[in-house]
Formats: sequence, C-alpha cells, structure tokens
Amino acid sequence: MQMNVVDLLQSDKFSQEVHTKGWVRTFRANRFIALNDGSSINNIQCVVDFETTDESLLKRITTGAAVAIKGILTESQGKGQAVEIQVQTIEILGDSNPEEYPIQPKKHSFEFLRENAHLRVRTNTFGAVMRVRSMLSFAVHKYFTENGFYNFHAPIITGSDAEGAGEMFRVTTMDANTAPKNEDGTVDYSSDFFGKETNLTVSGQLEAETYAMALGKVYTFGPTFRAENSNTTRHLAEFWMIEPEVAFMDLNGNMDLAEDFIKSVLRHVLDNCKDDIAFLDQRLTKEESTKPMIERSDMSLLEKLNFVVENDFKRVSYTEAIDILRNSKPNKKKKFKFPINEWGADLQSEHERYLVEKHFKCPVILFDYPANIKAFYMRLNEDGKTVRAMDVLFPGIGEIVGGSQREERLDVLKDKIKALHIDERELWWYLDLRKFGTAEHSGFGLGFERLVQFTTGMSNIRDVIPFPRTPQNAEF
Ligand code: 4AD
Ligand code: MG
Repeated sequence: MQMNVVDLLQSDKFSQEVHTKGWVRTFRANRFIALNDGSSINNIQCVVDFETTDESLLKRITTGAAVAIKGILTESQGKGQAVEIQVQTIEILGDSNPEEYPIQPKKHSFEFLRENAHLRVRTNTFGAVMRVRSMLSFAVHKYFTENGFYNFHAPIITGSDAEGAGEMFRVTTMDANTAPKNEDGTVDYSSDFFGKETNLTVSGQLEAETYAMALGKVYTFGPTFRAENSNTTRHLAEFWMIEPEVAFMDLNGNMDLAEDFIKSVLRHVLDNCKDDIAFLDQRLTKEESTKPMIERSDMSLLEKLNFVVENDFKRVSYTEAIDILRNSKPNKKKKFKFPINEWGADLQSEHERYLVEKHFKCPVILFDYPANIKAFYMRLNEDGKTVRAMDVLFPGIGEIVGGSQREERLDVLKDKIKALHIDERELWWYLDLRKFGTAEHSGFGLGFERLVQFTTGMSNIRDVIPFPRTPQNAEF
C-alpha cells in the first residue's frame, strides 16, 4: 500500500508490506535511511540490508536523492521512533550528486539558505515554517467563512493611487525609452495598455469597501506590493494581506474582530501543527541560548503563542500611549532614536516595541490616532483632531494590524480629500458609496507574513515567504 510518511509514522499495521516515496535526508552506516516526503517534520527510518543490496545501488542513496521504497512496516528497535521500514526493494527515482547538492545534513546559515531558496524548503526549519504558513492560510479562510464573511478578490492591478499606503510599482506595456510624452514632458499614459497610469495594488481596502456595502461582511486575502526602500526584517516589497471589511461595524467591533480573529487562527495552528510548532519552539530556544542574557526572551515560542491566545489584548488610546512614552525611562535618558516630545508625533517601531515588550508585556491595540499621521479615509472623531484608527502591536513584531472605522460622511470625506490635494475625480466610485446608502463600516489589514513570523518565531520576514521580494532582490 502506498503511504505518506506522516501516516506510516502513526500506523500500527506491523508486518505488512508498505510502499512509500520521498527524499533521503541522511544515510547512515550503509544501513539507515532517514526518509522525508514533506508530509511531516519527522522522517521515517528505512533499514537497508547492505549484504543483499548491490553496492552500486547503496552508493546512490545520498542526501537529497528521490527514492521509492517497498518494505515491511515494523516496530522500531532503535530509540526515537515507533516504527520503521525493513526495506525489501529500493529504487532510485532521482540521483543527487553529493559533491554538488548544497543542502547537506548540517547547520546552514539563513543567509546561505536564502540564496538557495529553491532548495531551502527541504530543511527541517523551512519545511516546518511553510507547513505552518499553509495551515494559517487555511485557518484564515475557515475563520471568515464560519463567521459569515465572503471572500472578495480585490484587483491586483489598480488605477487608483489614493490609498497613500506606500510607493507603488507601475504596470505598463510601454517602453520606457520610447514612451510618448505630453507637451509638458511627462509621460502620456493615454496610449498605454489601460489608457491610464496603473500600478500594483498596495491594499485591497478601497475596493473591499464597495463589496462590504452590498455583501455586509467581506475579506480579501491576496498579494500586495509596496516599493518602499526599507531593508528591515519586517518589510517585503511583495507580501500577502488579509483585509476584512464590515458594514454597520464601529471601531470597537473592529478591535473585537481583530483580536478574536488572531486568537482563532493561532489556536487552529496550535491544535493542528503540533509537531512543527514543537520543532520551531526548540529551534528558537536554541537560537535564544546563543544570545546575551538581557536580549533573551523570557518565554518560549509555545508560551508566547499560548499567552496571546489566553490573554486580553490591552487597548490604549494614542494619547495615553504618548503620556506613557513621554515619561518612559528610555525617553528621559534619550535612548530613543526619535524622542517623544509632544502629542502628534508619529510612533516609530522603537516606541511600539517599548509599549508592547517593556511596558504592557502583552499585545496592545492603540486607537484614536492624530488625523494627520493617518490615511484620508479614517473617520474623524468629535474632537476634530483624532481619527478612529487602530493598530495592533505584537511582541517582537511591532505593528501586525492596521485598520480603522471609515469616514462614511460625504461632506467630511470630501473636505479631507481636498485638504490633502487628492484629485476627487480619481475617487468618484469611492465617494459614490457615501452618496448611495452610506453606513458606518470598518475594517483592517493584517500582514500575513508578520503573522507567520510571530507564529513560527522566525526573526526575518524573508524566511517566512517562499521567494522574498526585497530591494535589489527578485531571484527565482
Ligand atoms: O497599515 P497598513 O498600511 O494598512 C493598510 O494598508 C490598510 N489599507 C488596511 C485596511 O484597513 N484594510 O498595512 C496593513 C498591515 C500592516 O499592519 C503590516 O502588518 C502589513 O500590512 N504590512 C507589511 N508587511 C510586510 N511588508 C510590508 N512592506 C508591509 N507593509 C505593511
Ligand atoms: Mg499601518
């Protein structure tokens, strides 16, 4: 019977013939193959009888080779595994030259593995990360579907440049050298493919709002693109964003939704990826033990995940946060790169991390930010200077969610657009929502890779997406 490694490891069909296929992780003492087929972090041990196996065949059992095995499932004699396969026949499906194969059974640096991103998923760490990523993605769809949301596919090419969330990547079929020009020297996009300037989307929100105002509860989960030149461990030029948008929901409802959603998907992974999470937990503990004492986290990965699932997020207004920061030790001792002097300052990641990691020591939702540091579409509060914005801040990550209650009043929105010198004609369809059946509504965006980072304990965002796109890097 053809079986996956994960099923074989749980099987008790001893003395039966089984067939399986996979890749050799290691081959020890001309006898023990550790075989992995991607179905589990765990390998199955396949025991070869070297006396009856051709020497030329034994030589071809090398790390990375693809093999098909037929044998008898037995209770394992050795420690560390419950079952093994006594090999009857082994067929080499694809050789792997050990002189050339980059992924040897030893510790490789993440930098080296990034250069070999096409092969790195064959390591324990990346296998575990990518299985968890897949399970998280499923949990996202499961959560929203079970809670009455419809999945909405936002366009990836967009003609609207009004979000202001970041620099955009232009989409064109024109040759940059021969592009037709207007009289003032600027490029004339009227002869381009779409007859206008188009870009890759930075967010599906504005389009999602149109669907929320008809279907009630919708969410997008798709790729988004930002041409920011920020080379950090938390930024990608291409990343996946989850954006729910809900009619008749205010900011408090939005905060409740974000918290419940995050807890739910983490719980799903804790319940369904036990082996991978256990592996990643040990990996992180090992990595932490190489750091100086003061930099070490006082919680293991599993403890952190359970902590987030079991505790309330702390909700704090921007104004309260500024007070805390202004009076904080690092601010008084001038340890912040960007000192906090007055209300209105934009919060940098050093401030967010201080609030989460040092002050509150739990996930924090900051809300009611100054209007002028947030996007035009956020609902203006009665005070006339703050907007109904919220950011969810996570330990080790910083901002994981950004969202808001949207401005549903046509006149207020128009004034805002004018003040920011945004061309109203570009947003005609967005403004239509405020003309026809406008209503309170809210939503947020969660960076999927930042969620995967938190869940897996990986410190660099480049290591939680299969093929990272960052400044100066689009290999593969
Ligand atoms: O805070 P942002 O810019 O919010 C929006 O785009 C809103 N339109 C969302 C909405 O209300 N529907 O981005 C949302 C989240 C951030 O909190 C962060 O987790 C992630 O997207 N993010 C990035 N992740 C990876 N690389 C980048 N360059 C990111 N920029 C934002
Ligand atoms: Mg944001």
